[in-house]
Amino acid sequence: MGRLDDKVAVVFGGARGIGLATVKEFLAEGATVFASDIREPAEKLDYVNYTHTIVDATDELQVSQFVLEVLTKAGRIDVLFNNVGIHLGKSLADTTLDEFDHIFALNVRAAFLGTRAVLPHMIDRKAGSIITTSSNGGVMGRPGDPVYNATKHALVGMMKSLAVAHAHQGIRVNTVNPGAIDTDMLRSTLASPEDFEAKQHQLVASTPAARVGEAWEVAKAVVFLASDESRFISGIVLPIDGAKSAGAMPGNRYSLDFELGVR
Ligand SMILES: NC(=O)c1ccc[n+]([C@@H]2O[C@H](COP(=O)([O-])OP(=O)(O)OC[C@H]3O[C@@H](n4cnc5c(N)ncnc54)[C@H](O)[C@@H]3O)[C@@H](O)[C@H]2O)c1
Repeated sequence: MGRLDDKVAVVFGGARGIGLATVKEFLAEGATVFASDIREPAEKLDYVNYTHTIVDATDELQVSQFVLEVLTKAGRIDVLFNNVGIHLGKSLADTTLDEFDHIFALNVRAAFLGTRAVLPHMIDRKAGSIITTSSNGGVMGRPGDPVYNATKHALVGMMKSLAVAHAHQGIRVNTVNPGAIDTDMLRSTLASPEDFEAKQHQLVASTPAARVGEAWEVAKAVVFLASDESRFISGIVLPIDGAKSAGAMPGNRYSLDFELGVR
């Protein structure tokens, strides 16, 4: 028996990385999954209870049409996973207004549109679990990506507000807050993919676990929040970051002379 048997899940940003890993965990746990993304999935998944649709999560019409299609086909939505996001690793001074508007229009607007499209249906049914991917940059200040951090804090604020507003209607709203996770997004912050092995010490110098995380390690937490095992849990902000947001590491850690943690 799967932990998500009989659940219908909608995923935004499900083509690769954390989104794809979560789609796979949802399917393995018995859910019917309606995934979407602006791109085709990086892996072909052979399940009868799985579809992938090309949807630009920042486009109001595309999002509402997609949600309507799911409701027409499946009759209900139990789980919404808002996972779309892009990174911007620039100082505030170097960020252009276009870049600022673009990252907010993506990271915050996508979750707003997805949630706004699904929420009325969940209110009618008096049930539902909404999970949004923020970041540990949504609970702590990180020096290298202030505007990205701002978008991820915005998501935490929006989701906490919704958790409080809709708890009495049986709707749960939570965020997952990953640290450095080995995905295309993380690797694209490096000069070249080959840089990854060389730069791992730098990437995890401030992570007590001394390693990057894997996409499936985030997906497992999303499954828990999607499932009835977490039915009295709402409004939480769940770091999945090898203790990074729990506190600061000793200064000598930045010498990069430490052993990588076990992956
Ligand atoms: N990888 C990390 O280290 C890390 C850390 C903290 C938070 N996150 C967050 O996790 C989420 C997933 O990131 P990831 O690392 O798997 O990155 P990723 O780039 O592999 O995945 C992001 C997905 O969003 C999709 N997307 C982008 N724009 C879209 C749009 N307009 N409409 C629909 N889909 C769109 C991309 O095609 C991609 O499949 C993001 O919100 C990211 O900010 C990642």
